Amino acid sequence: MVSLRFILCFLLVSSAYATIVSHDGRAITIDGHRRVLLSGSIHYPRSTPEMWPDLIKKGKEGGLDAIETYVFWNAHEPTRRQYDFSGKLDLIRFLKTIQDEGLYGVLRIGPYACAEWNYGGFPVWLHNMPGMVFRTTNKAFMDEMQNFTTMIVDMVKKENLFASQGGPIILAQIENEYGNVMGPYGESGKAYIKWCANMAQSLDVGVPWIMCQQNDAPQPMLNTCNGFYCDNFVPNNPNTPKMWTENWTGWFKQWGGKNPHRTTEDVAFSVAKFFQRGGTFNNYYMYHGGTNFDRTAGGPYITTSYDYDAPLDEYGNLNQPKYGHLKKLHDVLHSMEKTLTYGNISTINFGNSASATIYKIEEGSSCFFLNGNETSDATISFQGGSYVVPAWSVTILPDCKNEAYNTAKITTQTSMMVKKPNEAEDSPSSLKWSWRPENMDNFLLKGKGQSTTRQLLDQKVVSNDQSDYLWYMTTVKFKKRDPFLGKGMSLRINSTAHVLHVFVNGKHIGKKLIYVFQISIILTYQKLIDLGNQHVENGKFHYVFEKDVKFKSGHNVISLLSITVGLANYGAFFESKPAGITGPIFIIGKNGDETITKDLSAHKWSYKTGLNGFENQLFKTESVSKWSVERLPFNRTMTWYKTTFKAPLGNDPVVVDLLGLGKGTAWVNGNNIGRYWPTFISSENGCSAKCDYRGAYHAEKCLTNCGEPTQRWYHIPRSFLNTSGNNTLVLFEEMGGNPSLVNFQTTRVGSVCANVYEKNIIELSCDRKSISAIKFASFGNPDGNCGSFEKGTCASSNNIVDILTQECVGKEKCSFNVSTEKFGAPDCNGAARRLAVEAIC
Ligand code: GAL
Repeated sequence: MVSLRFILCFLLVSSAYATIVSHDGRAITIDGHRRVLLSGSIHYPRSTPEMWPDLIKKGKEGGLDAIETYVFWNAHEPTRRQYDFSGKLDLIRFLKTIQDEGLYGVLRIGPYACAEWNYGGFPVWLHNMPGMVFRTTNKAFMDEMQNFTTMIVDMVKKENLFASQGGPIILAQIENEYGNVMGPYGESGKAYIKWCANMAQSLDVGVPWIMCQQNDAPQPMLNTCNGFYCDNFVPNNPNTPKMWTENWTGWFKQWGGKNPHRTTEDVAFSVAKFFQRGGTFNNYYMYHGGTNFDRTAGGPYITTSYDYDAPLDEYGNLNQPKYGHLKKLHDVLHSMEKTLTYGNISTINFGNSASATIYKIEEGSSCFFLNGNETSDATISFQGGSYVVPAWSVTILPDCKNEAYNTAKITTQTSMMVKKPNEAEDSPSSLKWSWRPENMDNFLLKGKGQSTTRQLLDQKVVSNDQSDYLWYMTTVKFKKRDPFLGKGMSLRINSTAHVLHVFVNGKHIGKKLIYVFQISIILTYQKLIDLGNQHVENGKFHYVFEKDVKFKSGHNVISLLSITVGLANYGAFFESKPAGITGPIFIIGKNGDETITKDLSAHKWSYKTGLNGFENQLFKTESVSKWSVERLPFNRTMTWYKTTFKAPLGNDPVVVDLLGLGKGTAWVNGNNIGRYWPTFISSENGCSAKCDYRGAYHAEKCLTNCGEPTQRWYHIPRSFLNTSGNNTLVLFEEMGGNPSLVNFQTTRVGSVCANVYEKNIIELSCDRKSISAIKFASFGNPDGNCGSFEKGTCASSNNIVDILTQECVGKEKCSFNVSTEKFGAPDCNGAARRLAVEAIC
C-alpha cells in the first residue's frame, strides 16, 4: 500500500515536471508547441567549471535557447573501465549549469565526436583491442560503443536531466556525420547505422535522437545538416523538421595555419536564409570554442587555441559585432516564432537571386527578402513599399512592412581586444628562471627501453597514446673494415611521425616534421615541409628523412624520438592512419661504385613511451630537485624551464606570451595548458586586408596573421592561478628556445567602434570597464574601419566628439539614437548619413 502511494506520488511529481519533446515536419515541439530554437555549442572540457556559468549566461543573453555539447569518450574513459568525470570533465555539473540558467541542452553522445579533438574522441585502447574496427558492424566496437553510450545515458537519467524527466536535455545525438564517410564501409556501414539507431532507441531517453549528415537515417532518427550554409537541406522524411546542427561560425586552426574569420554578415545571412527557407532549429558550432588543454587537440596539428572566431572568443569575451548582431537576429526570429512555425508559406521570385518569402497566419504575416546576388544590391517592391536589400543579405520584416533586421547592416559595436601587461610584475626580465636538461642518457647512449620487438611498430600500439613521445632505438654493430664505415653513408627513415628527432650515438643529427594542412573537413591536402625531401605518397601522411651519418666500428646506437601532435580525428577508417615510424629504415652507402643498403626494419627495436621529466612530474610545483639557476641555456633542445610569477590583478582573462620558445608543453601550477609552438610561422601569403562578406564563405577566405606565429598566446584560466602568492610556470622545450621574453598578459576590450546609418540606435559598451575617451567621431560619410576611421567628404560641423564625450565618457555603456537632431544634418548629396565613432575603454 505504502509503495503504491509512493509510486503514485512519484508519477505525479515527475509528470508535473516532465516536458514532452517531439516534432513534426515543421519544428521541434515542446509540450505540444512548435518552436524556433537557437542553440550554441560549448564543449565543457574546452573551458573550466569556473567559466561555465558565465559562458552559458552569455549564451542566454545572446538569445540562445539551448547549449549543445559532445561527450568526449577518451577523456572520460582514459583506461578501459576507469572513468573520470572530475573538474573540466564534470559533464553532470555542466548540464546542471545549463539547467540553472533555464536553457535547454542538446547532448551529442556520439560517442564519435570528430570536433578537432584527439582521435575524434575515441580512446586509443579501443583501437588496440584485438580485431577492432571502428564505426562498423564490428562486434568488439559495437559492444564498447554501447557500453559507453549506455553509461552516459544512465548517468544523465539518474540526475533526471532529460526533458522527459523534467531536465533540460531536449535532443540527443548518436554517431556524427557518418553519412560523409560511409561509402568505404559498404554494406556494413548501412547495417551499422541501423544498429546505431536501434541501440539509441532502446535506451529510452524520452527525447528525439538526431543523426547529423545522415540522409539514410532510419526512422525515428532525425537527420540534420552541418555546414556553412544549410538552406538547401531537405530532411529525408516529411515528418522531420529542417534542422541545422552545425552552423560553423568560423573555423579551426592548425599549426602553420592562419587565423580564420567568418564575417558576422555572412553568419547572419546563412541563418536568416535558413529560417526563410523553412528551417526552425539552428545550432552555432562553435558559440564558444575555447582551448584544447593538455593533449586534447586533434589532428594532426590542431592548435591549442580553439577560438573558432566564435561569438564568444577563446577566453569567453564577447566577440563583437558577431555576438551582438546575432543576438538581434535571435530576438527578431523569436518574435516571429508563431508565424514561422505555423504560417502558410508562399514565395515570390524576383529573378537575379532575389526573392520574398511570406509566412502567413490569421493574426498577420512575416516576411523575408533575400538578395543572394554577390555583387549588386536589389530593390524589392512589395505591397506598395520599396526596399533596398544589399547584395548577399536578407531583410526580415516581422510584419511584412517594417524592416526590423538586415543581415548586412550591423548596428552592433565592434570591439577591439587588447592585451595588457601584467601589472603585478615589473617586466618580463624580472622573471627568475631555473632549468634542467631532459635526462636521455639511457636512450641516447644505451638504446635501452621498456620493450623490444624485431619490428617497427605503430606508435599508437606501443604508447597507447599515454604520451606524445615514443623512443624507437636500435643498435648496429660494424666490424673495423666494414664498407658501411666508409664515406657517404646516410640514414634513411620512412616515417609518419608528426615530428621526428634523430640521434646517432647521442648526437642530434636532424629533425623533420610533417605538414598537414586541412582546408576543410571534407578536403584534406597534405604538404610536407622540410629542408630536405618533400614527399607525399598516395596521399599518406608519410615522408622520408635522409641525412649523412658517420658510424664507428663497434656498437652504434640509433635513437629516434617520434612525436605525435594530436591524432587524426576525421575520415573513413581514420583510426588506422599510421602514427610514428612506419619504416622501412635503411643505412645506405657505397662500396666502390656499388650502392649498399642495410635494412634495419626487422632489427631488434627497443621502445620507451614518454620522457623522463614527464614521468618524474617535473611540471609539479613541488618538484625541486636538480633545477639550476646557473647558465640558463638558450636554444637547447629537450630542456625544462621553470619560473614563478604573480597573478595579474583583476578578473580579465590571462594569457602567457611564449614568443621566443620553440615547441613543447606548458603547465601552470601543475595544470597542463596545452602544447605550444610559437616558432611555427604561417606563410606570408593568403591573407586579405579587406574581407568582403559577399559570396560563399570557405575556410581559406578572410584569413589574417600571415607570416606570424600560428599561436603565440596561451590561455591560463583564472581558476588555475593563486591570487595571492606565487604561481609556477613550467615549460618543457623540445626544439630549443629562449624563455627570457616570456610574459603574462590580460586580454580585454581596448576600444569599441560603431559605424551605423542614421535612425539606428547604437550602444557602446566597454564590457564592465568605463569608457575613457572618444578618439574619433564623425557624422556624414566617414571612411575606414575601426582603428583607422577618417572624415569623409561630407561631415557634420557639430563637434560630435564633444557630444559623445559628454554622453559616454566615465560610463560603462551609453546608448543613443543616430539622428540629425543630435548630430546635425550635413548634406551628403542625398545619400544616407552614417555615424562612425571610436571610443577608448
Ligand atoms: C564537422 C564535425 C565537427 C567538427 C567540424 C569542423 O564535420 O562534425 O565535429 O569537426 O566539422 O570544425
